[in-house]
Order: sequence, then C-alpha cells, then structure tokens
Amino acid sequence: MVFTGAFGEPILTKRYGVPDSHTLAVASEYGAYDVLRQVVGKREPKSIIDEVKASNLRGRGGAGFPMGMKWGFVNPQPGQEVYLVVNADEGEPGTFKDRTLMENDPHRIVEGCILAAYALGAKRGYIYVRCELALAIERLEHAIAEAYQAGYLGRNVAGTDYAFDLHVHLGAGAYICGEETALLNSLEGFRGEPRLKPPFPAVAGLFGMPTVVNNLESMAHIPDILERGGAAWSALSRLEQDGGVRLYGVSGHVRRPGIYEGPVGLTLNEVIYELGGGLLHPDRELKAVIPGGSSTPVLRPGDIVDAPDEKHPLHRWHGKSHLDVCMGVDTAKALGTMLGTCCAIVMDSSVSMVDAARNLMRFYKHESCGQCTPCREGTGWLVDVLDRLCDGEASEKEVDLLVEIAGNMMGNTICALADGTAMPLLGMIQKFSEDFYAAAHKRPRTQLHDSWAQTLAS
Ligand SMILES: Cc1cc2nc3c(=O)[nH]c(=O)nc-3n(C[C@H](O)[C@H](O)[C@H](O)COP(=O)(O)O)c2cc1C
Repeated sequence: MVFTGAFGEPILTKRYGVPDSHTLAVASEYGAYDVLRQVVGKREPKSIIDEVKASNLRGRGGAGFPMGMKWGFVNPQPGQEVYLVVNADEGEPGTFKDRTLMENDPHRIVEGCILAAYALGAKRGYIYVRCELALAIERLEHAIAEAYQAGYLGRNVAGTDYAFDLHVHLGAGAYICGEETALLNSLEGFRGEPRLKPPFPAVAGLFGMPTVVNNLESMAHIPDILERGGAAWSALSRLEQDGGVRLYGVSGHVRRPGIYEGPVGLTLNEVIYELGGGLLHPDRELKAVIPGGSSTPVLRPGDIVDAPDEKHPLHRWHGKSHLDVCMGVDTAKALGTMLGTCCAIVMDSSVSMVDAARNLMRFYKHESCGQCTPCREGTGWLVDVLDRLCDGEASEKEVDLLVEIAGNMMGNTICALADGTAMPLLGMIQKFSEDFYAAAHKRPRTQLHDSWAQTLAS
C-alpha cells in the first residue's frame, strides 16, 4: 500500500509512515492529544457539535449521512446513558481503509472517540472491529492501554472530572454486522440481525439507550476538525455540503493499489491514474469502475454527463466523462450510483461482467443474514441464475429473470443489504447487457426489454 499527499499535505494520514507512529510516545511528538487537552473540560460540548455540523462531514461508512446532524439527534431523557459506538467492521469488498488507520495511527482514533464522547455526554464507548484484522486490533488495544496509563481515558480524562471508558469489541467477521443495528445486536450478545428502524440508534440504540454509531474514519477526523475549526476543515473539499479530506481506496487493475488521502471531490480518473498509477496492463482498456465498495453501481468511462440545465447537480460537468465528475455523496447519487466507502474497484477490458457479477453475488448470498425472505431467497436465486449463465446453460430469458429477482429484492427488506446486492447487479446488466446476452449465447440486444426498462427506471 502507498500513502501519499499527491493532492495536498496529508492531514488525516500525516502520521502514516512515521516509524512507530502507533505508539503514544511517537504519536504525541506529532500532536496526538493536543486537541483533547485544549477541549475537554474547557469547551462547551454543544460548541463541539456545532463545529462538527460546520465541517459538513458526511459519514465515511457508506451512507454519507451528515455527522453533525446525527449527533444533534441525541437527546437523552433523565436516567438515560448515552453510548458511542464506532464501526470498524469493514467488510465491504474492495474496502480496506479503516484498517490502515487502526494500524498506523490508533491514537488518532482514541482521541477522536474521547472528543466525540465528550461532545455527546457519553461515558462509555465501543469500537467494533472484525476479528480478522489482527494487527489493527493489537495496535488499537495497545493504544487504549497507553491512553489509560497517560490519563486520557478513565475517571479523570486529561485531569478533568469527565470520565470515559473505551472498549474494543471483536466481531466474528460477518458483513451484516457492519450494518449499524445488526452491530448493536451483536454487541449486546445477540445474533447479528438488523433491527427495524425507527427507532433509530440515536433514540434507542445500544441497550435501548441513545447511541451514536459512526464509521471509524468519520471518528478519526474529529481532532483535525476541532483543531482547524469546522468551516476551515470543510473548505478543504472541492464540493459544497460535503466537507474536508478523506481516504480513497483503489484496487483491481491498477499499478498502485492502495489507500490514499485527498480532498473530498477527486474524480475517478484522478483516483485511477494519479493515485493508482494508471492501468496495470497498458495494452488493455478501462472497462468499468465500481466507485465505492461492491454495493455501489458501476460507472463506465465512455458515459458522458448530459446536464444542460443550469440547475442540474451535474451541470458543472456537462459534456464530460462520468469519471471526470468530482465524486461526493450527492454527485455520485446524481450519476446513478453511490459514493459508498470511496474505495474504487477498477476493471479492465479482460473482465467479463457476468463473472464479476457472479463473484459479487456469491458474497452477498453468503453474507445475507437470512432474516428477510426477499434477501435470503433472492441472493441465492441470483447466484443460481448467474452460475447457469457462466456455465453457458442459461437462456436469454434468464437475463430478464435476474432483473426481475433483483427488482423484487429492492426496498422490501429490513436493512440495505438487499438493495446493496440488487443495485450493483442491475447496474452491471444495464450497462453491460452485451456481456450478459453473449453469455446466454444470444446476440446483444439493442433495446432493453419493457420489463427491464420499468425495473431499471424505478
Ligand atoms: C450490510 C451493511 C454493511 C455495512 N458495513 C459497514 C461497515 O463495515 N462499516 C461502516 O462504517 N459502516 C457500514 N455500514 C453502514 C452502517 O450501517 C452505518 O451507516 C455507518 O456505520 C454509520 O457511520 P457513518 O455515519 O460515520 O458513515 C453497513 C451497512 C450495511 C447495510
């Protein structure tokens, strides 16, 4: 993995690459806990929430919800305890950014958690980490032990009368336990199945108490937001209402797969060619990019933004390739995809989209918790049909069947796993129908079936 400041000075990753950056001694030399000492016991908690609102930080776990707004929903009733829960389950295929924070700069995470907890009035926090991340867990636990010894955690945080305890909780490696309410069930010792919402965790979360669940990267930005001020941190971004810097991932057919830092709003072409070093095999062409983890619909380099209307959110990029649009939560949505975790998977012309689809669908079938019928059965049926397609046994009609099954899964389940399965598959079929029909031993169609067009449009 390579970490660079190709797009400006590294901020979040400034301690990456410093020898022993995971230790308190070294992290402190590079500013760890400076913000905490200036803030805890000295600033009003509400002013911290206002700063986070001003930062325009959109959650880095995939959904892109404004972090400050989420914090603002917490309103404990008398006798209620507030919990802070940090999501480091990181199970989305193609996504490996949070792991680098835990391995390279665990004290930044601990500091971020303490600051968040202080702002929210939480006395206890949990970091939920998947158990496969052995080095990350070792370093995080070591950092927490060092922070207790140094008096940053425990009864008197930084010599004040504020008390906060932070625990690492290991998940057994189920993708569904990254879904925030399944995570809470798992943390409580129950089966990792998502809960119906509402109530949302901010109202009734861990042990029925008001709870903030944030992604680990979201949490790691807090010290910088408070050090610079929310508005100044927000202005580091190239976009409005989607502030700051973030981690970018790039994997697949590129020369330098890895995790990089940059301002919010890099284009996918910048991610592929400037961060990722360009295509691995220069004699092949770029075929497709999954922009932000496997649940996000694919984009094609040849697609051009058609937004002549000045009010259109993509007007600024009218006439440009989809891969030249500044990627943010809202611009990605306007392109018909999602920013997700901002970790791109690059596919060159050697890839059959049918094989890629089957590979992904096998993952979702395996990871469906089975609670909702459309997801439990639908993911299995999708794999059955894709197996037949890959084996050359499926007819053309079975491509339509894939669309129908996926369409019936969307919006019909408790959590977003089913949508995150169906959306990328529908995108692949819509944009690469020739691959699917070729697999069904038929000539590519020029027009979509009526039933398809309806499903894809809805
Ligand atoms: C199936 C599924 C898996 C998820 N996995 C993760 C994950 O591994 N890490 C994460 O931070 N969010 C994950 N999420 C999103 C969380 O539910 C939640 O939105 C996020 O932790 C909130 O943090 P943020 O607002 O800081 O982004 C997942 C969602 C779904 C539906």
